[in-house]
Amino acid sequence: MKTITFTALSITLAAFLLSNVSTIKSSAMVLTIFNEEPVLPPEPFEYTFDFPNYLFNLEADTLGYTPGGIDSLNLSTITDDGATLGRVLFYDKKLSALENISCGTCHIQSFSFADGLDLSEGVNALTKRNSMHLNDLAWTNHDGFTWDLEHTDLVDMISIPLTDENEIGADLETLILKLSITDYYPSLFANAFGDSEVTEERIISALSQFILSINSLNSTLDQTIIADAELSDLQKEGRDIFASACGSCHVQGNHFGFTFEEGENPIEIFPFFFSNGLEEGEDLGSGEWNEHLSHLFKVPTLRNIALTGPYMHDGRFETLEEVIDHYSDGVVENEWSGLFIPFDGFQFESSEKEALLAFLQSFTDESMLENPKWSNPFDIKSMDQNSLQSSIKIVPNPSRDFARIEFSNPLNKQVNIYVTTMDGKRITSASNFENSYGVDISNYLPGTYVVQIEIGRQRSTQKLVVY
Ligand code: HEC
Ligand code: HEC
Repeated sequence: MKTITFTALSITLAAFLLSNVSTIKSSAMVLTIFNEEPVLPPEPFEYTFDFPNYLFNLEADTLGYTPGGIDSLNLSTITDDGATLGRVLFYDKKLSALENISCGTCHIQSFSFADGLDLSEGVNALTKRNSMHLNDLAWTNHDGFTWDLEHTDLVDMISIPLTDENEIGADLETLILKLSITDYYPSLFANAFGDSEVTEERIISALSQFILSINSLNSTLDQTIIADAELSDLQKEGRDIFASACGSCHVQGNHFGFTFEEGENPIEIFPFFFSNGLEEGEDLGSGEWNEHLSHLFKVPTLRNIALTGPYMHDGRFETLEEVIDHYSDGVVENEWSGLFIPFDGFQFESSEKEALLAFLQSFTDESMLENPKWSNPFDIKSMDQNSLQSSIKIVPNPSRDFARIEFSNPLNKQVNIYVTTMDGKRITSASNFENSYGVDISNYLPGTYVVQIEIGRQRSTQKLVVY
């Protein structure tokens, strides 16, 4: 490896009345399901969380990231009832002018809230840029949003997709009226804000509470600190490469200053946005709002990065392998990138590429993808998911020698049961048609394991601690 020294169509009431008829195909016939109401738990899910201390005082080599403080932490506004309302709004197609799109259309849970497309289908056209993942926004991004970092305030930021003709395309006055007469909203607003009045500020505040609650703090990498999971040797090798080649730009929320003097207003640019030596396209990035900053883009968090492809502001790379190839051999020299990336790229050996990839994969938090609190409450499948998820019990837990896994299987379907280590190595697999399974864990090493239950298309996980 080479190193370097240092979105308004007006809404008609008719469209409203025709809303929410979704069609589900079964093998023999087509059923029409009027899925009008979100299905919510009797008590709200817990959205508030304590920010883990270890992220405030990392040792340089712990995560392969530069140590230091988190200088923007946006958790104080979150309440469980506020985020619950936010969850419903996020997935409710009623918000859009034609009632065909929601935030959840372009921000999908199984892709860590990106959407797996290079550009997304908006109401009328493709979006200009690649949809962004929404994990860990509360702390990884120094209050800078979108690929060109034009928006520094989440509240402003959210009103953009909400009203952008090509995204949600809501006319806010009509929207407020519409939500006020939709039967499930008044109580949700009252729980969240004390009374049932629907206002623009409240809509945006609830959406932002929901988004800010989304975190990947259960990733394998985090587990190496809070539990006794270990990175593989390959991942450790990748961590060292990451620390020297990538960590200078992709820091974990800590942002050291690098100011760009423009007249009397110095703009702090690094590493909030920068250039990583991509071949330049038509999109000027931050240059769209400041001519001096052409072709600079947000340095996105790499948490959950294995889930969020295609990559870069225009989705030009399909896979992480292609991203690594870019940094290795595809870098195009420009005035910015050369500060941190050799002009002809890092020239990784193939073993180094493999190690780097393995390390990037340790940033994945699988549990986030299945967590019902961030799932679509209008989705029939996710209702099944919720009931399976809430039915899984492991007794005792923590346990030693033997554990019983209980789950709801009222129709006695085939159940597949898997136990894996935190980094995904399968240790036990079994199947039966019952509603429980006893697992012999006498030869398991102490630590945290993942129990996965699969019934038909439903899949849910729970943790098992062995001592
Ligand atoms: C049609 C697809 C689409 C829809 C619908 C959509 N978004 Fe986005 N979202 C995008 C794209 C594309 C970007 C990147 C925009 C850019 O950089 O110019 C983005 C960026 C964001 C960001 C910035 C993330 C970051 O890391 O900077 C947030 C926050 C966000 N969207 C929230 C929402 C919310 C809330 C809604 C619903 C009100 C929503 N989005 C609806 C496509 C969409
Ligand atoms: C000079 C600063 C810099 C360095 C060094 C750097 N990156 Fe980046 N990285 C960026 C910027 C800026 C972007 C966004 C570029 C764009 O979309 O135009 C980015 C984007 C990415 C993305 C895509 C993110 C997404 O959400 O699509 C990945 C993956 C990535 N970098 C991985 C790495 C790896 C691995 C290394 C080390 C080999 C590395 N980066 C080194 C600045 C840097």
